[in-house]
Amino acid sequence: MSGGIRREQRYGRLLLTVVVISLAALPAARAFGPYEEGDLPEEQRGEHGAMSLDAQQALLDRLLPEGDVTAPPPGVDPWLWEQLVPADNAMTPERVALGRKLYFEPRLSADGTVACATCHDVSRGFTDQRKTSEGIGGQMGTRNSPTTLNALFYDTLFLDGRVESLEEQSGFPPINPVEGGHSDRDAVLAAIAQDPEYQRMFQAAYGRAPSYADMERAIGAFERRLIFLDSPFDRFLAGERDAISAKAREGWVLFNGKGRCMSCHMLSPRNPLGTDHQFHNVGVAARHRRFEALAERALAALARDGGEEAVDRMALQTEMGELGRFLVTKDRADIGAFKTQGIRNVGITAPYMHDGSMRTLWDVMDHYNKGGEPNPFLDGGIEPLALTEDEIDALVELMFTLTDRRFAEQNEREREAQRAIAARERPFRDEAMAERRVLPFERRVTEQESGRSER
Ligand code: HEC
Ligand code: HEC
Repeated sequence: MSGGIRREQRYGRLLLTVVVISLAALPAARAFGPYEEGDLPEEQRGEHGAMSLDAQQALLDRLLPEGDVTAPPPGVDPWLWEQLVPADNAMTPERVALGRKLYFEPRLSADGTVACATCHDVSRGFTDQRKTSEGIGGQMGTRNSPTTLNALFYDTLFLDGRVESLEEQSGFPPINPVEGGHSDRDAVLAAIAQDPEYQRMFQAAYGRAPSYADMERAIGAFERRLIFLDSPFDRFLAGERDAISAKAREGWVLFNGKGRCMSCHMLSPRNPLGTDHQFHNVGVAARHRRFEALAERALAALARDGGEEAVDRMALQTEMGELGRFLVTKDRADIGAFKTQGIRNVGITAPYMHDGSMRTLWDVMDHYNKGGEPNPFLDGGIEPLALTEDEIDALVELMFTLTDRRFAEQNEREREAQRAIAARERPFRDEAMAERRVLPFERRVTEQESGRSER
């Protein structure tokens, strides 16, 4: 990731920098994003603020295309598809059906109230549209729920890339104490294995009795059906110039040029998500914590127990989750680095970033425009951009063209909602910093003088 020069620069900055936590930069707390639980009709309200699992299933029936699941899906490069399907988990209708049932299965949690679909809700862009997720007993995790839409295209899963396949990923939530809360894998399996319907379906899918590994496989197979890449932007790329507005076309030029987005969010037919699959500190976590002290504590804890499940708990239950990729690699260059998130369907998955700290796409652009929050581990690619208000609008417009047409209505509603919020509040806007009229260290000095230093 970083060469010697970058590292030297980092240490240089480390010496200069006193990280200032600006509480003023935190947006107003709001539990839900695009819609409130109360907006749903009574009979569609489920547990933990999600749409009821039955209502979600009905919605999914309308979203998913019929068709042969064993063939490369339309619109996906056949070569790419071959790389994406594991040799021991070829796509079959029986596996997909089993995985779908498991995705909506609340028994994967200890108290029977939390399914995958609770946090990756069909009606909410396959996220929960909350800052961070709620699991059993109303416990809150420390990370924002990313979408399961198109997640099959990622090289690594989770926001710190701690696992490498959908199969591996799906085994963790049921046993994470603040998500599914089961004591161990056996307890999860015991909750479903005696059910004759599951026995029949596992047999049909994998030719054997239920096992944890086959449960993971089936969920992975189902998630490989969640391909939602049919957006106005794709029609534009295919040559249909007017598929997106002139403003969004201006945004595309900025995305590739002055905004420098393309250096991390590479977007092409062979890389449809818009990510480099790498990890960067873009200065989101910086305002929360003293990274160095946190890193010391994390290393001490990992020395006691460095297993996968320990890392999973640390990421979702402690403030050490803010260290991001560092928890996985233990490399100091990865402190505060998170996976470059894909930008597909981003219009319907607010709030944004690993901690859900940004409510609107205008906030995200304001964040990049000022060069992120200064911290010693900030990625070299993040610098003030001097984007004008008009250019910020154009980039936001572009982001809203990346939503699959099956969510067009939701996308439109959310765009108007975000526009209204952004007209009222832009908590991350900092024009002086964006235009480099002040430098980060000047700001730190003046903030220290006025008594707003680190805790
Ligand atoms: C309590 C809420 C909750 C439940 C339940 C839950 N998830 Fe998640 N999911 C999250 C959060 C939060 C993350 C991000 C965690 C992280 O990066 O450390 C995540 C990450 C993921 C990712 C990785 C996406 C990416 O961009 O890397 C996938 C895939 C996923 N979940 C699928 C599932 C499946 C399948 C289930 C059911 C077996 C499930 N989730 C259950 C909240 C939840
Ligand atoms: C140095 C690499 C880098 C550059 C440059 C960059 N990004 Fe990002 N982007 C990231 C990373 C890493 C994340 C995830 C950060 C996190 O979760 O805290 C992210 C997150 C996002 C998100 C939020 C996704 C979500 O679902 O939460 C959006 C939207 C986004 N970037 C758009 C842009 C745009 C537009 C630009 C150009 C103005 C840009 N990015 C420039 C690396 C980059």
